[in-house]
Parts: sequence; structure tokens; C-alpha cells
Amino acid sequence: MNAESAPVTITRLRDMKAAGEQIVMVTAYDFPSARAAERAGVDMVLVGDSAAQVVLGYSSTVPVSTEEMLTLAAAVRRGTRRAFVVCDVPFGSTEVSDEQAVATALRFAKEAGADAVKLEGASAARLSRIRAVVAAGVPVVGHVGLTPQTAGALGGMRAQGRTGESAARFVRDALAVQEAGAFAVVVEAVPAEVVAVVRPALQIPVIGIGAGPADGQVLVFHDVVGITEGRLAAFVKTYGAVGDATADGVAAYAAEVRSGAFPAPEHGYPARPEAVAAARSELERLT
Ligand code: KIV
Repeated sequence: MNAESAPVTITRLRDMKAAGEQIVMVTAYDFPSARAAERAGVDMVLVGDSAAQVVLGYSSTVPVSTEEMLTLAAAVRRGTRRAFVVCDVPFGSTEVSDEQAVATALRFAKEAGADAVKLEGASAARLSRIRAVVAAGVPVVGHVGLTPQTAGALGGMRAQGRTGESAARFVRDALAVQEAGAFAVVVEAVPAEVVAVVRPALQIPVIGIGAGPADGQVLVFHDVVGITEGRLAAFVKTYGAVGDATADGVAAYAAEVRSGAFPAPEHGYPARPEAVAAARSELERLT
């Protein structure tokens, strides 16, 4: 196995940062999206709790349950071999105590095969959770800036670090998450100039989303390949039109069913004459 095909480890991610090599991360939520990420050679796959919206149809990340996330995470794990798999722990699954956070993180590691979990926020309680989970042996990715699980407390789904007070809080949060033991940090929706101020003080890889240049980037799978309907966040770039292609495919199928063009003889199984005869005589016997 050469370095290109060897499974990505935390050491490899650190080496990539040191070498100035960009870390590519994308979300995945099921076997096919994990296979697509793996085939594309991405370094990290995030089973994001954005699954709540893009896969399960909830209006925010808040309602998704641990059981729902575990099912998705296990499917992603089955679809990946080389990529490093990080799972979001959903809202409510770590908030009660450090013990609850450790129990949840262990479930993602043992039942879903996660390489690491991602915990949002940097309050005193969140930092305590990061320390506890790391001490239990599960690597943690931090997430600062816009933290969707608690967006209500941040004034909604809006960019952070745009006022002096908010930028200072962002710097404190990023450093605190590193200090608590996270091996990498996702920074969401913070101006690039503000992120640039703190980056030299961060030894851990910074994975940006709407945060300008960083050690790597993450985007939501459905946004990347063009499945998402409606308004996209300003930081999204779309590289495909899978949503349109999918709708077109289903529409073509529906049209052929309605017109009788599908199924054609080649879409079935040839019958043996004795089978048709037996079916006829059984029908006669029964009617
Ligand atoms: O859940 C998610 O998809 C995320 C990314 C936006 C970083 O946390």
C-alpha cells in the first residue's frame, strides 16, 4: 500500500498541514455519497448533522437523533476505505454531562466505525466535553464560528467574527478548542481576514467553510454536486447538476411507463412454453 492509498490518519493530516498540502473534506450521509467521495480521493469525510436537512428533511440540525446519525454514519463507513471519517454528534447527545458526551462518542466509534467525532462550540461546558471525549480515546474535531446547532443563540444562521466583539470571541474559541485537545477545527462563516489573524497560533489543521483560505476546505455533498434546491449559502460553489439529472431521469422513466414504452421485452425473463401452459391450466382449475 503506498502513501496515496493508505488510510488517512491524524498523523497524515498533521503532515499535510506542515507541508502546506490542502486537506479536502466533504460531507457524506450514505453508501453512494461515501463511495463518490472515496472515488474522488477526498482525505476526510464528514457525516455532518446537516443530514438533518439535506437527507431527512428537518428544518434545522436540532431534531436529528443519535440513532438516525448512527445509521447514516455506519453506511458511510461501509463506503469508505481510505478517507478519514468524522461524525457529528447531534444536538442533545452531549449537552447533559461529560459522561453523556463520552458515551455518545464511544457509540460513534464502536457502532459506526468513526475515526473521530466533531463537537460544536467552545463554551466552558463544550471544552469540558472535548477534554472528556479525547481522554476516553476518541479523537475530536472542534467547530467554531457559526455553529448551526446553537445558531439561535448566535442570532441566527449568520456569519460570525464581523464585529470586534465577535472576532475576539472567535479567536478565543479557536485557541480554546485547540487547548482542549481537538486535533483539527472546522471554522464556519468567518471573514478570511479574521481567520488569518488566528491561523499562525493554531498548530492543528483548520478546515474552512465560508472562512477563506485554510489548511483545508469542507462543503456539503448535496451543494457540491448540485442536489440542493433553493437558496445556497454565499460560500457554496456547485460543481455538478445531479439534482436536475436525477429529476430528468425519473421524469423520463415516468413518461415511458405512461406511454407503455417501458418495460420492453428485454426488461423481463423469457417464458418456457410449459410454464405458460401450467399457468393456464392452474387458472382454469381455480376459476
Ligand atoms: O453538518 C455539517 O455539514 C457541517 C459542515 C457544514 C461543516 O458541520
